[in-house]
Amino acid sequence: MGNLYGVIGHPVKHSLSPAMFEAAFWEYDMDDEYQKFEIAPEQLGAFLDGIRGNDEELARIYGLSVTIPHKEAIMQHVDALDAHTKAIGAVNTIVKDDGSERKDGRVLLKGANTDWIGAKRAIEEVMDVEGKDVVVLGAGGAAAAIVYACVQMKARVTILNRTLDRAEAMAERFSGEDAPVVKAGLLTDLMNCRANLLVHTTSVGMGADAERSLVPVEFFKRGMVVFDIVYTPLETRLVREAKRHECRIIPGYKMLLYQGERQFELWFRKKPRTEKMEEALLTHLQS
Ligand code: ATR
Repeated sequence: MGNLYGVIGHPVKHSLSPAMFEAAFWEYDMDDEYQKFEIAPEQLGAFLDGIRGNDEELARIYGLSVTIPHKEAIMQHVDALDAHTKAIGAVNTIVKDDGSERKDGRVLLKGANTDWIGAKRAIEEVMDVEGKDVVVLGAGGAAAAIVYACVQMKARVTILNRTLDRAEAMAERFSGEDAPVVKAGLLTDLMNCRANLLVHTTSVGMGADAERSLVPVEFFKRGMVVFDIVYTPLETRLVREAKRHECRIIPGYKMLLYQGERQFELWFRKKPRTEKMEEALLTHLQS
């Protein structure tokens, strides 16, 4: 019997991670399994203790993807965090030690953030943002990972949000010493901004809200890169209108794909066949 991996969230029912990782495991002919774990906030600590060895079945778990609402709360339950993860303030990956670094027999759980790496890779595939203007719409958890990635790549970032306080707090948090200052504003300031890359991170345009977009069509310019992290539907109104104005598009599912690629590398210390993970994701998203 192989080891167990999974995604914890609340709700977790619609997660696409199982499809993506099952495809990756299959390519390597691995007998590991990947499951969904529906865990309420008050169950989080006990669940992680189970992984550390308090529960025979959960002790089979060697890695987790972490989703809403646990990304921040889980930080206080892990034994180690890398500097990027601390700076972003959210964990989306748990890696259990393989026994080699164990002190006093305590099983160590490390927290990592691969969302920013997913965003970085998705953007780098299409453009080099160093010294370029990036406008990020939204100031929630997803925006934090994207703003961090753009600051790491030395872009000039402006965060626009419905609630100004949140945009300002995030801009202040990510304005580094050796990087350009991150600016903040309201969504209504968009027409006064310049953007080589526009990233949309709010839930507007998702699911039943599919026909809404926060971006006036007058904002689009030929050659501008547009990254809408909403991927249900696969083509949002924002993306459709951006394409019509000859913008270049980064598909929203790419961030999910590449954060998963990095999770696989952290768990197995080898690269997955990412194109197989992508095929599995697209099959689900198109059905
Ligand atoms: P996530 O982790 O998915 O980013 P979040 O932390 O809840 O989710 O953040 C949601 C983001 O979407 C916020 O920037 C939120 O704006 P506020 O800070 O003003 O709440 C934004 N958002 C959600 N619904 C919105 C709407 N109808 N119009 C504009 N922005 C919206």
